This record gives sequence, C-alpha cells and structure tokens, in this order.
Amino acid sequence: MEHVIYTHSEEETEQVAAELGKSLFPGAVVLLQGDLGAGKTVFARGVGQGLGVATHIQSPTFTLMNAHQGRIPFYHFDLYRLESEEELFELGMEEYLDGDGVSLLEWAEKFPEYFTLPVLQVTIEVLSATKRRLVLRAEAGPYEQVITALAAGGTKR
Ligand SMILES: Nc1ncnc2c1ncn2[C@@H]1O[C@H](COP(=O)(O)OP(=O)(O)OP(=O)(O)O)[C@@H](O)[C@H]1O
Ligand SMILES: [Mg+2]
Repeated sequence: MEHVIYTHSEEETEQVAAELGKSLFPGAVVLLQGDLGAGKTVFARGVGQGLGVATHIQSPTFTLMNAHQGRIPFYHFDLYRLESEEELFELGMEEYLDGDGVSLLEWAEKFPEYFTLPVLQVTIEVLSATKRRLVLRAEAGPYEQVITALAAGGTKR
C-alpha cells in the first residue's frame, strides 16, 4: 500500500507526521528516506509530537540516537555517520526494534540488508524550496492501518 501527501511548509510536514505519530504502536519501526535537508528530522519532530514527547527534538547526527519519553518511548536514530553493520549491533539496535517504543531511523537505507522486518517507509522528495512529496509505504497489516488512518483524517489535504 502506498499513500502520497504533498506539503508546502515545514509546519505542514510536522503536522502530517504528528498525525501519523498518534497511531503508531509499541515496536513500530519507521524508516525515513530522502536527501540531505529533505525534511527527515522535521518529520521526526512531528512524530515525536504525535507521540506526546514534550521536549524539543533535535537531530541525533552526533549522538546517533536520542531517546524521548512520550505516551510510549520514542527512539530517534540518524545513521548518517555510521560506517558498518557491526556498529548497529554495538548500538543495541536489535533491542530497540523489538522494544516497547517507536523506532524512527534516518539514513537506514545505508544498511539495506539489515532492516528486513516489516516497517513503515516514508520517502521525502524535494520538489522546491518549500514543497515536499511524502510517499508512505507499508506491506504489513498494522502499518497499513496507520496509513489508512492518516489518509482518512487527511481530507483537508
Ligand atoms: N515542506 C517542507 N517540509 C519539511 N521541511 C521543509 C519544507 N519546506 C522547507 N523545509 C526545510 O527543509 C529543511 C529540512 O531539514 P531537516 O533537517 O529536517 O532535513 P533532513 O532530511 O533531516 O536532513 P539530514 O539528511 O541532514 O538529516 C529545514 O530547513 C526546513 O525548514
Ligand atoms: Mg536529519
């Protein structure tokens, strides 16, 4: 299943992501794809808001992962600086993915062989300085429901 949403500002992307965050569940994994500056961290910020995270969500570029507490834990990864799959094991990635929170990853496509479990995939394409095309993809039931809920609530778009 695939669903496309166009946004016209950072705030709008954040809103869409916040809406999505509301229906994410423990153990959910979201992979964000898109070029540098596409809006992955903006999207992550929205997901965090939707999960009820009160603190400001910054890019985990140097820390690799920031853990936040919302209605369930929110683990925000940025794998841009990671060089090997081995480092994923050192990070304890397995436990986060299997865990009780939502894991969201920027730059997971660097490790295509590692993330084979069902996920919600979000691709952000830059159309202009302020316009983005968000493509949400899922092939497993629970994630399809998340997309369906978002699509149903998104009549204003
Ligand atoms: N419609 C939009 N949606 C999201 N961001 C937008 C939009 N229009 C403009 N922007 C701008 O694009 C930038 C997105 O930056 P962001 O840090 O989220 O990108 P990123 O994909 O996380 O990059 P990186 O790969 O470096 O982590 C911000 O400066 C934001 O203001
Ligand atoms: Mg980022």
